[in-house]
Amino acid sequence: MKKIVLAVILLTLSSVAYLRAQKFESLAETPPMGWNSWNKFACNIDENIIRGIADAMVENGLRDAGYVYLNLDDCWHGERDSLGFIQPDPIKFPSGVKALADYVHAKGLKLGIYSDAGRKTCGGRPGSFGHEYQDALQYAKWGIDYLKYDWCETEDINPVGAYNLMRDALYAAGRPILFSMCEWGHSKPWTWAKKTGHMWRTTGDIFNCFDCIDQHPDWAAYGVLQILDMQNGLRQYAGPGHWNDPDMLEVGNGQTVNEDRAHFSMWCMLAAPLILGNDLRNMSQETKDILMNKEVIAVDQDKEGIQGLRFLVENGLEFWLKPLADDDWAFCVLNRTTESKEYLIDWQNFNLYDDVAKRFTDFDSKVYAVRNLWTKRNEGDTKKSKSIMIPGHDVVMYRLIFNQK
Ligand code: GLA
Repeated sequence: MKKIVLAVILLTLSSVAYLRAQKFESLAETPPMGWNSWNKFACNIDENIIRGIADAMVENGLRDAGYVYLNLDDCWHGERDSLGFIQPDPIKFPSGVKALADYVHAKGLKLGIYSDAGRKTCGGRPGSFGHEYQDALQYAKWGIDYLKYDWCETEDINPVGAYNLMRDALYAAGRPILFSMCEWGHSKPWTWAKKTGHMWRTTGDIFNCFDCIDQHPDWAAYGVLQILDMQNGLRQYAGPGHWNDPDMLEVGNGQTVNEDRAHFSMWCMLAAPLILGNDLRNMSQETKDILMNKEVIAVDQDKEGIQGLRFLVENGLEFWLKPLADDDWAFCVLNRTTESKEYLIDWQNFNLYDDVAKRFTDFDSKVYAVRNLWTKRNEGDTKKSKSIMIPGHDVVMYRLIFNQK
């Protein structure tokens, strides 16, 4: 009898523990969209800049295009108070984080914050190690909506334990906070973190360059093409609520318009979180046209949430398909070289079965209308072959719209 009672108690306790161990659901049914301070400002942030960015997100139409998260990255921190609660830097954020959250929320935006699983952040500010529940409580109290959780100074901490601990702390604090994991893909989070975070970095940091590596003695940062190549083999792990994160965008930070267009298009083909990294208060018309192309954003935000597939590499060109809702596909040709290239598309050569989407393109029996997403022109249908020209470091991107709807 005693044994049975004990077994029932243990079972109940373990199922309660199981129920408690969860992330907030439904926060990222499509890839999260927003802005983050790191790529442009690094540690040089303060509340005036952040308020200016919030204003710009509304005035430029970015918020209405879907970019709703405004995320502070490293270096917002001051010290912990006498009870151990983290405080913002009093010089850079004299009004406090709660006031900033109120300002951002009043504009229909959400506020994100940054911490680290180790004792210190990558910028040397206080990390959350040993203060996880306290930090989660503080974020909830301030009205935070998004947490990016980094991996510096973690010594021999186990990433599964560290990220699940913060997930549980956020859940216990009670405010739905999107959990963005940033451990650079070291422990292959795509294999274990579906129930832990809403997105996980797959690589080291992006470097503001289309095709290069910024090599340091013990770390490296990677250009757009290098990061793109590192996404190989990961597409089956992403989906609604849990996304591969190839890092934040560098669009508008000085690469050519062609490169910016290619970078943005490929992140959309990857169903990547679209976290902008440029100065939104000061954007060229070309940058705005790229970041707010609604038809390209719709490829990223498609409700099926299936990451795109690179199915052919030929002579410096890459051919990508992404299954979309209602039997449509996004189709993108990326020119990795610096020379313009011509290509004759014969759609029937692209008959393939996508075993992640469990769907055939079936160009033999299906006819798709061809919509050019950058020129915004309709270009006939897939019954006819077509000749295209792809400038160097650029893309041609189509939506193939299934006709028999
Ligand atoms: C790491 C992250 C970056 C950024 C910096 C801040 O390098 O990967 O995205 O957050 O830390 O110090």
